[in-house]
Amino acid sequence: MTPLDRLTLTHCVQTAALAPSLHNSQPWRFRIVDGAVEVYADRRRQLDVLDPAGRELLISVGAAVFTLRLAIGVRGRDPEVSVLPDPEHPDLVARIRADQVTTPPEEVGVLAAAIPARHTNRRPFTDAVVPADIMEQLIGAAAREGATLTVAGAVSRDAIIGLSQVAEARLGGRGGYRAELGRWTRPGPNRRDGIPPTAFGPWDALEHMPIRDFGLVHRQPFRPSERFEPHPAIVVLATGGDGPADWIRAGQALQRVLLTATHLHLATTPISQPLEVPAVRAMLTGAGDHRWPQMIIRLGYAAPAAATPRRPVGEVLE
Ligand SMILES: Cc1cc2nc3c(=O)[nH]c(=O)nc-3n(C[C@H](O)[C@H](O)[C@H](O)COP(=O)(O)O)c2cc1C
Repeated sequence: MTPLDRLTLTHCVQTAALAPSLHNSQPWRFRIVDGAVEVYADRRRQLDVLDPAGRELLISVGAAVFTLRLAIGVRGRDPEVSVLPDPEHPDLVARIRADQVTTPPEEVGVLAAAIPARHTNRRPFTDAVVPADIMEQLIGAAAREGATLTVAGAVSRDAIIGLSQVAEARLGGRGGYRAELGRWTRPGPNRRDGIPPTAFGPWDALEHMPIRDFGLVHRQPFRPSERFEPHPAIVVLATGGDGPADWIRAGQALQRVLLTATHLHLATTPISQPLEVPAVRAMLTGAGDHRWPQMIIRLGYAAPAAATPRRPVGEVLE
C-alpha cells in the first residue's frame, strides 16, 4: 500500500480533464481524500434543454473517469474504481484508489499517450476505408468496458444520417435550444470551456454530414464550405441498460474507443443529436434486443484537429 502523493494525483486530475464532454461543458469536479480521487458530476454544468436526464453529463464524467484510470495506471498504480459508491450521494460518480503498485500492461501506456492527441474532428475526412481489423480493435475496446460497438452497414448508415437531420431540425425548434447552444458557443478570449469557433468545422457543401451546427447562434462571417466524404464510417456505441451506471459505463467505453482510434491514427467525431430526441432515439433502439444506443461516432482519416480549451485544475479540484 503506497498511496500516490497529492501533487501526483493533481497531475492525474489535470489529465482526466482532457476528456471529451458534451459541448465541452466539462461537468466534473474532483476531490482528493486519503490518497483516493473522488469524481463528482457538476450539475451546474448540465445542459437542461439538450440533456434533461443528465445522460450525456454522466457519459462525459464517465469519459473523465476512464482517463483518470489511465493517468493513475501509467504511474505504476492499479486503479481500483468504485462506481456510484454512495447511494446517499448520487453525484459522487466514482471513487478511485491508487495504492496498489503494479507494472501497467503495455496498452495503458499506449492509450495514455493518446490522451493529449485526441480531439473531436469536424472537418472532412478522406475517402479511405477504415479496415476491418481496425474496426475489430475498436469493437474490442468497447467490449472491455462492458459496451457494444456496432459498425453501421450502408443501409443503417444512411438511416442514421437521415435521422440525424430530422433530430437537428427538431432540436432547433425545442424551446431554449438556441439560448443554450449560444451559451456554450459564445466566443471569448479568456473562455476555458464551450466550443470555440475554430472547432466548428466548415459547412458541408452537400449538407449531408450529420455534424451539429455549432455556428447556428454565433455565426462566423467567413465559414468555408467544403466537400465531406460521401460515405462516412459510422459506429454506434450501446449498453445493456439505460440508467446512471450504464451512462457512466458508456462514457468509459467511449473514451477507450476514442483513444484506441487516436492511437490507430483515426479521426473521430461523436454525434449525439439523434439520441437527444426520444422519438428518434427509439427508432435507433432495436426492438427486443435490449441495447440502448448511447453515442454515434464518425471515424476516418484526416489532418489532426486542434485542441479545445480546458478549465485550470484549480477550478475543478476542490
Ligand atoms: C456526451 C457527448 C456528446 C457529444 N456530442 C457531440 C455532437 O453531437 N457533435 C459534435 O460535434 N461533438 C460532440 N461531442 C464532442 C464534444 O463537443 C467535445 O468533446 C468537446 O467539445 C471537447 O472537445 P474535444 O473532444 O476536441 O476535446 C460530444 C461529446 C460527448 C462526451
